[in-house]
Amino acid sequence: MPTMPIEPALLADSPSWKLGFSLPQRYYIDESVFQQDLQILESGWILIDHGSRIPNIGDFFTFKIGNESIIIVRGRDGVINALYNVCRHRGSLVCLESEGSKKAFTCPYHAWTYDLTGALKAAALMQPDFNKDQYGLKRCHIREINGLIAICLSDEPPDLDPLVATLQPYLKLHGISRAKIAARRSYPTAANWKLLIENFGECYHCAPAHPTYASVHAKQKMLAIGAGFGSADEAITNEYLPEYEAWTAHSKSLGYPTGRNRSPIGSGRLTESVDGKPVSTLMGEFKEYDGGQTGMGLGSRTGTLLANNDYAVIFRFVPRSALFTDAEAIWLVDKDAREGIDYDVDSLIRVWDVTLREDKTITENNQLGVLSKSYQPGPYSRQEQALVRFTSWYATKMAEQANRKTG
Ligand code: FES
Ligand SMILES: [Fe+2]
Repeated sequence: MPTMPIEPALLADSPSWKLGFSLPQRYYIDESVFQQDLQILESGWILIDHGSRIPNIGDFFTFKIGNESIIIVRGRDGVINALYNVCRHRGSLVCLESEGSKKAFTCPYHAWTYDLTGALKAAALMQPDFNKDQYGLKRCHIREINGLIAICLSDEPPDLDPLVATLQPYLKLHGISRAKIAARRSYPTAANWKLLIENFGECYHCAPAHPTYASVHAKQKMLAIGAGFGSADEAITNEYLPEYEAWTAHSKSLGYPTGRNRSPIGSGRLTESVDGKPVSTLMGEFKEYDGGQTGMGLGSRTGTLLANNDYAVIFRFVPRSALFTDAEAIWLVDKDAREGIDYDVDSLIRVWDVTLREDKTITENNQLGVLSKSYQPGPYSRQEQALVRFTSWYATKMAEQANRKTG
């Protein structure tokens, strides 16, 4: 099985740290490291939500990361705009609500008023030669991909097109563009964002820490590809391949795209529910259940989509400080599915809601231990190969930043 190449990378200030070990303490606790982390994350695309959150003209929500607050608003042309929530007069936040619907945004300080594209429309008592055209809200890069909203705070966003092209067959298969939000839940977690990402990137902890999740997913599958292909040791993965390939052939015979980001839940289950039975109506191109699920990372490592046959979940991890991260899950169903008839929110969210509550607890305990003077980087297991790649990526990004500063 091909595995992703692992670049050798070291942290300049921690010469004894080796790839294959968790990070040195300061990378999980230090505020100055956290500021560098924000720069890394803000230079990439961030998956933030689904467009069905703001279906009508003027519907908006604000998204905050680091020092930035971004207004995400649907314009009169139906297109979603992403605007820096910073008044062009003297810099006040313009919009103080977290979501709602507006015809225009009026700054609470001196009442400069902006339209849904961010253009300045009114600025009372300014001098006659004041040119409103030069003082619109600054725009942030935004992409709407089959209904998924991603933003990038960099002036030069990385090219997202190759990834979008790769994901397109799967986004279509799961009908993500014609989905609606059925539920959202927050899991505010007192831990560094990297501990949440690491936790989400391995299934070594699934059996000991997630009894519900472990009762839903077949054991061998959890061991082999619990956090996706490449998350476990190659030998363990190879043992699972015959079962995986039999399922792939079945899914293919139903006419569905297959690939390493798709896998069966296992044990004859149709979807990721407590009893394996459907929890909503089929989505997208599914005509019958194949019992598979599809993982789709979109841009940054802080957002990912996991899609079953009848529902999908967006997982979002937004760093707030060195020791705090807002985790959020957004459950999607087909837009025509009726609450109380086709789906029941409690049943729909149960497996992941329980799992994410458990993740909050284990990650907070992880952070408490990492704060101890006795903490030192520990070795990743054969089941945590994705974390080797994550820390390698992270160390490389940190080195790039250091080079940029000195260069
Ligand atoms: S700071 Fe917004 S109108 Fe003055
Ligand atoms: Fe977990």
